[in-house]
Amino acid sequence: MTQDELKQAVARAARDYVADRLPVGAILGVGTGSTANFFIDEIAAIKGRLGGTVASSEVTARRLAGHGIRVLDLNDVDAMGIYVDGADEIDPGMSMIKGGGGALTREKIVAAVADTFVCICDASKRVPVMGRFPLPVEVIPMSSAHVARELAKLGGSPRLRDGFVTDNGNLILDVHGLSITDPVGLEDRINQIVGVVTNGLFARRGADVLLLAAPEGVLTFQR
Ligand code: A5P
Repeated sequence: MTQDELKQAVARAARDYVADRLPVGAILGVGTGSTANFFIDEIAAIKGRLGGTVASSEVTARRLAGHGIRVLDLNDVDAMGIYVDGADEIDPGMSMIKGGGGALTREKIVAAVADTFVCICDASKRVPVMGRFPLPVEVIPMSSAHVARELAKLGGSPRLRDGFVTDNGNLILDVHGLSITDPVGLEDRINQIVGVVTNGLFARRGADVLLLAAPEGVLTFQR
């Protein structure tokens, strides 16, 4: 199977998960990225069951709206049953690296509101220890050099993402060369650096459910 066929298969499984478990009229959070895009295309078929969606990026909001799916402001939502999103890496404890697409801050905010985080990805994203994928860190523009120096002290090699500005008007430092054996500790440590908006470690709020596309089918893991 190609990578896109795996993404398609897991997107379909996530649509079925939502259709089976999210009460009719409830709110669904929707992530960002190529796997999330397949999921958005799939949920067009069940949009009548949804009370609305909250998007984790402008690009996701546009894709949802393009299917005629209702997109709500997070501030107008009291509760969200399920959030579905991809990941760049996920470890056995269901901690993730996210933000390859630069949407990490909004993803983390939407995920914080959701009761259940459903991660959708293909088997290549499941790793014993995270860090091979560079860890994205969103920073306030005037702080980027300071934050980069502090990240280097933690043992990483930060590189400014060239020509990229987040939906929030900030910059991304991609931190190479980390071996993340304590995801919660590192998430907290990086978030304490002045100038950091947030980092792409989703450890304090990891995934509750992982739908993993493998050649033999879509496997389900629970936290
Ligand atoms: C977006 O900022 C990311 O967190 C994505 O969810 C993550 O990069 C996975 O993207 P793909 O599904 O495109 O691999």
